[in-house]
Amino acid sequence: MLDSATPASEESIARAASLLVQGRLVALPTETVYGLGADGLSVPAVMRIFQAKGRPADHPLILHVASEREAKTLTANWPQSADRLAKAFWPGPMTLILKRAPVVPDAVTGGQDTVGVRIPGHPVALALLKQFSQQGSGVIAAPSANRFGGVSPTRAIDVILGLGPFLDEQDMVLDGGACQVGVESTIIDLSGEVPRILRPGGLSRTAIEAALASTVDISTHEGNVSASTLPRVSGSLASHYAPRAKVHLVAPEVFASLVTTRLQQQPSRRLGLMPFVGQRLDDCSENPRLIVRNMPDDADRYAHELYATMNDLDRMGVDELFIAQPPQTTAWEAVSDRLRRAAASVNDGSAVGE
Ligand code: TXA
Ligand code: MG
Repeated sequence: MLDSATPASEESIARAASLLVQGRLVALPTETVYGLGADGLSVPAVMRIFQAKGRPADHPLILHVASEREAKTLTANWPQSADRLAKAFWPGPMTLILKRAPVVPDAVTGGQDTVGVRIPGHPVALALLKQFSQQGSGVIAAPSANRFGGVSPTRAIDVILGLGPFLDEQDMVLDGGACQVGVESTIIDLSGEVPRILRPGGLSRTAIEAALASTVDISTHEGNVSASTLPRVSGSLASHYAPRAKVHLVAPEVFASLVTTRLQQQPSRRLGLMPFVGQRLDDCSENPRLIVRNMPDDADRYAHELYATMNDLDRMGVDELFIAQPPQTTAWEAVSDRLRRAAASVNDGSAVGE
């Protein structure tokens, strides 16, 4: 059990690097979400990640490094598209899937012949990676630092409250403040004939297409590629990223009337509301059984607040969450994807998704 986070400092980062060398777990801030890190080239260390998360072993992990040179050592080939994207967007919220080098353990890739790599754009993550590269492999495997099925953490407190019971006192959660982006990295598969986005995220499709000078398809599980041809992307489970509360994704126009109806139908339930700022709620917002958190109407600011808001409302014990559906535009792709998955979950109190 680990019950507190350690503020990131030169000294604590150095200590975190030596913990990684010893095979321990270190949760670290990145610009997207907090990651649960371990030495990515050590099988026992990687196994501890799966254990602490409660994640099935065949769900692959992303490897984090400090430089493009190190990223290349983890891959069997480095196509021109990788070069372009890495130069344009690293360090940053982008993960590249490439054919893996033999040095990458099966435990990391779930036995697949590809590997996900990324250079995170956060000063604490980069400082830790550099230290760890002097003392050890310099490769940190890190999934989002939540229990399988839960909402990703964007603050150290979310990591402690979610994963603390599954960590040891000798592990560490480095506190680097709130994550700026707030949703996970965009995953781009470069291992096939054409680049494909497997998970929309912090880097927009528009930016990727501009850098590649071509259009890029999104092929999550809802996409047009059959499930059997897709690599196992645990983030593509429909019920991923789900809070405990049952999520209703609702068009803003009918939001107030649906909430009013629900309050009448379910007199004992506590409802969390996430309307857009300025959205009309009529008189339903006066009800003491409601907790309202107004969400930004800008996609980037919305992403920044999304998981923190869901984690807060979950902790306040709301039974159901009503979320206003964002516009169906490219700018909202990552947020819409996460909201759809959150709404796809079953509310039986058990963990769902990853
Ligand atoms: O922003 C992020 O990507 C965060 C931070 C910590 O870097 N990490 C993160 O990791 O979201 P995780 O494990 O929660 O999600 C990574 C996703 C999973 O859905 C996994 O299946 C997929 O990346 N993935 C990893 N390696 C892959 C591979 N070789 N092929 C296809 N998908 C892969
Ligand atoms: Mg995750």
